[in-house]
Amino acid sequence: MALLEIKGLTTEVSGYKIIDNLDFSVEANELRVLLGPNGAGKTTLIAMITGQFKPTAGKIFFDGKDITGRAPDEIFLAGISRKFQVPNMYETLSVYDNVMISLQTDRKVFKYMFKRVSPAENERIWEILEFIELADRANDPADTMSHGERQWLEMGMLIGSNPKLLLLDEPTTGMTEQGKQRTAQLIEKIAKSHTVLLVEHDMHVVRRLGKKVTVLHQGKLLAEGPLAEVVENEMVKAVYLGKGRH
Ligand SMILES: Nc1ncnc2c1ncn2[C@@H]1O[C@H](COP(=O)(O)OP(=O)(O)OP(=O)(O)O)[C@@H](O)[C@H]1O
Ligand SMILES: [Mg+2]
Repeated sequence: MALLEIKGLTTEVSGYKIIDNLDFSVEANELRVLLGPNGAGKTTLIAMITGQFKPTAGKIFFDGKDITGRAPDEIFLAGISRKFQVPNMYETLSVYDNVMISLQTDRKVFKYMFKRVSPAENERIWEILEFIELADRANDPADTMSHGERQWLEMGMLIGSNPKLLLLDEPTTGMTEQGKQRTAQLIEKIAKSHTVLLVEHDMHVVRRLGKKVTVLHQGKLLAEGPLAEVVENEMVKAVYLGKGRH
């Protein structure tokens, strides 16, 4: 069984199927890119995997266990961490402290703000700071960071929670071309030791990653395979041309 296995997943809101009988799976250690026009259901799918949105029908299996309908906290503890489109961090705390808090499984910030960091934790925090290339910003408050730096810090915080599966929803949005390339590089580094599901609109980034892609459209799986094949698919072309994006 794949690390993430989704079967017949359906989410209906007021008679409208946002996700429609979807079968989808991601293998352990894979980096999969999820594509699809605006409103295709990508963010909704991620919210269903993390338990923030309950499916109407179907099943989600993770690491061999049925996690359908489980609470978000439980799914996070089972090893799935999500990055939102907008960075989610403690604004007034330093970059170092944000990574420190991410190592604590319950993320109860006040409990850890004045805590003594063990040598092993300190080592792990610096390892993550080096990994995301923000070691020189360690003592700066998170709210003094640029848009790109905040995204990288949040990816470091995701790694801190030691997940088996990382879900990244459009992490390059609003970045400069240089920032996007740095993000792509960081994702490649993360993917060496993690399973990643990435929603990404930027085709330069998707091409650079060169991984298997899945295209969603109207909550259904439209195409799947190597990018070069998928972009030649007539249905995929029609969907993208029709929407006027890319
Ligand atoms: N809570 C909700 N209630 C009703 N409709 C919703 C809800 N959440 C999302 N939708 C609708 O579901 C569809 C899928 O939205 P979703 O945000 O998952 O798309 P997406 O693929 O992430 O798009 P984008 O590329 O713009 O981020 C859209 O038509 C959206 O309007
Ligand atoms: Mg979205």
